[in-house]
Amino acid sequence: AQRGNTYYPDFHLAPPAGWMNDPNGLIYFDGLYHAFYQHHPMSADWGPMHWGHATSHDMIHWQHQPIALAPGNDYDRDGCFSGCAVNDNGILSLIYTGHVWLKEAGDDSAIREVQCLATSTDGIYFEKQGIVLTPPDGIMHFRDPKIWQENGTWWMVLGARDAANCGQTLLYKGNSLREWQLDRILAHADVDGGYMWECPDFFPCGDHHYLMFSPQGIQQNTGYQYRNRFQSGVIQGHWQQGSAFIQNQKFTELDNGHDFYAPQSFTAADGRRVIMAWMDMWESAMPSKQEGWAGCLTLPRELFERDGHLCQRPVIEAKSLRQQSQPIEPHSVSQTEVLLDHSSAIELELVWDISQSNAERYGIALGNKVGDGLELYIDSQSQRLVLWRHYPEYELDGYRSIPLPASDKLSLRIFIDRSSVEVFVNDGDAAMSSRIYPQPNERKLMLFASHGSAVISEGMLWQLK
Ligand code: FRU
Repeated sequence: AQRGNTYYPDFHLAPPAGWMNDPNGLIYFDGLYHAFYQHHPMSADWGPMHWGHATSHDMIHWQHQPIALAPGNDYDRDGCFSGCAVNDNGILSLIYTGHVWLKEAGDDSAIREVQCLATSTDGIYFEKQGIVLTPPDGIMHFRDPKIWQENGTWWMVLGARDAANCGQTLLYKGNSLREWQLDRILAHADVDGGYMWECPDFFPCGDHHYLMFSPQGIQQNTGYQYRNRFQSGVIQGHWQQGSAFIQNQKFTELDNGHDFYAPQSFTAADGRRVIMAWMDMWESAMPSKQEGWAGCLTLPRELFERDGHLCQRPVIEAKSLRQQSQPIEPHSVSQTEVLLDHSSAIELELVWDISQSNAERYGIALGNKVGDGLELYIDSQSQRLVLWRHYPEYELDGYRSIPLPASDKLSLRIFIDRSSVEVFVNDGDAAMSSRIYPQPNERKLMLFASHGSAVISEGMLWQLK
């Protein structure tokens, strides 16, 4: 394949070549941020999983490092699947799932999954230490360990699928990274709650504990929404070391765009709880494969609680990407206005005054003209914020949407990076992330309003590094 640069991101972490999926082993260790990720270096398709690796001083500017883990031992022959990184008394330690196909590659009905350890003394080269945990009887899908330490005790959450094909999160307790006992089933799916819960994570934020995971196969019939079999979200509740997880909310999706999966959290240098996710989706077309690569991660996002709700916004470090700024004066939009002819790497802040706007639809568009490419608009009739993408040449077409918040103003913070868009609503109330595939001559950024006018009360546009 020809490595082109039409879709390769300017400021998101993507593989140097080949395939990427889940972020793994996100950690701040010894003064440096590390991001590992599910990686197939030999082609732009998923294959025997390696762990790619990159490091950064600020979670924004990344430097590629040599591949950290490669499959090949009898216990991880067919893949070093997802996992995490911890600081074990000064030793950077990776805990990951060793995956083996027992019948044919891709046949999920006969697999062996075990948890494995690898350690490093220099943070670059990793030495495998072998298996540290095997599954309980009757469980085959058993993967994606996430570990933390609390008052000297190690804890691990693990994704699993029970004998009745319901997803669950298992909680283990460890005396060391090599000795684990099952503590309890921390949470499990009801009949329609998904058949496998991938990539669990469990952490405190604000006044609550959150179980974050990526269930496969949740049944959802929302009518208005595009939906596939994969989603990622959280259950809010309370937990005290060694006791049950008391849930006080149902599963809530974390991001309402098309492409957001397998988020993992870590604590930043100053203690902020930050997540990054894979900004792509299983079973979706990935046109960047033509250029020899696929997959990228979202911007790192700080999680925080506001009024008891989990919110997310790009880490403050993202502001270091800003170059020239261009203010957008308060005004009324009643026809299409071009903001920029060529938007490949930009950030846009816009505040719409909903109470002063009477257009049927208004928002921003990226393409040659409105209605061809990407639109992010307010639909006055349904009172929803809609993210719509239309790339028929790649069979990528469809919208996702969220209800408009009950406020007079709607503030949007939008990042466009060649083949992606990330939208943050009202300073973190909601996020929408999607991959987009405009051709180089289809990157006109526009404001539009149809059948009426819409009022902008604030706005700023930045070119990003
Ligand atoms: C989630 C996932 C994980 C697994 C990895 C394999 O996207 O399916 O459960 O460890 O990807 O690449």
